[in-house]
Amino acid sequence: MQLIDGKQIASEIKKEIFEEVEQMKAEGKKVPHLAAILVGHDGGSESYVAHKIKDCQEVGYTSTLIRFEEDVTGEELLNQVEVLNNDADIDGFIVQLPLPKHIPEQKVIEAISPEKDVDGFHPVNVGRMVLGIPSFVSATPFGIVQLLKRCGIETNGKNCVIIGRSNIVGRPLSILMSHKNINATVTVAHSRTKNLEEVCHQADILVAAMGVPGFVKANMVKEGAVVIDVGTTRIPAPETKSGYRLKGDVKFDEVAPLCSWITPVPGGVGPMTRVSLLLNTLQAAKNKNRYV
Ligand code: GUN
Repeated sequence: MQLIDGKQIASEIKKEIFEEVEQMKAEGKKVPHLAAILVGHDGGSESYVAHKIKDCQEVGYTSTLIRFEEDVTGEELLNQVEVLNNDADIDGFIVQLPLPKHIPEQKVIEAISPEKDVDGFHPVNVGRMVLGIPSFVSATPFGIVQLLKRCGIETNGKNCVIIGRSNIVGRPLSILMSHKNINATVTVAHSRTKNLEEVCHQADILVAAMGVPGFVKANMVKEGAVVIDVGTTRIPAPETKSGYRLKGDVKFDEVAPLCSWITPVPGGVGPMTRVSLLLNTLQAAKNKNRYV
């Protein structure tokens, strides 16, 4: 069994980005600028956005955090999106999800200019990704594809079973894995799938992305399979500094001995998700190709 060290791979990619930013500076180019809109004070969202800002600082990007209180109106938020769309200094921006219930989330996503949509959530980017033409791909699926490539894991003709069909992980990943540069045969399993255990057992590459801690057990995994755990459920743990522990969707201890490769949680997919946003932001800046 080999561990897929997402933390190490992400840190290598960050080093590459840092060097590219240094090069941009040396050539007198503007460094990439990412903005993040954060609504309210949800612990998870606060922590995700803080990480995104920290990542930007580490690779030399400019970053801007724009905060709104929970009671912000949809109109105020849409106005802010429009300001960022028109701000020539901002290369890309994200609106951290989920938004409060009274805000029409899809309307906000669709208001973001597709050229600045570094989350890859806008239907234009999703459609372009499906067609296999240049687009921003959402961070987690993008990160998983990078992990498979950087570990040299064979995907051609392999059976890939993805458990979970969310718009930001399972569904886009299923499309990417079927593209001609990857060539996997893809099954998307979900809560209504019959004989899930059998379906998962057919997988050469099994991706657990439904957000149910410890769901994937040894009896669902074929000997020699590659297992990618996307789960990041926060379990309260008062003894830790952060106050919580992350739990994956895979029972690591019983599944790992069966695998050829497996991602740990934490330190597997999570760091790659973070670095993917940096890669998309770099791409957005390059697409504009502007000089100061
Ligand atoms: N909430 C959970 N994941 C994400 C993400 O990748 N981007 C945004 N904007 N919100 C999220």
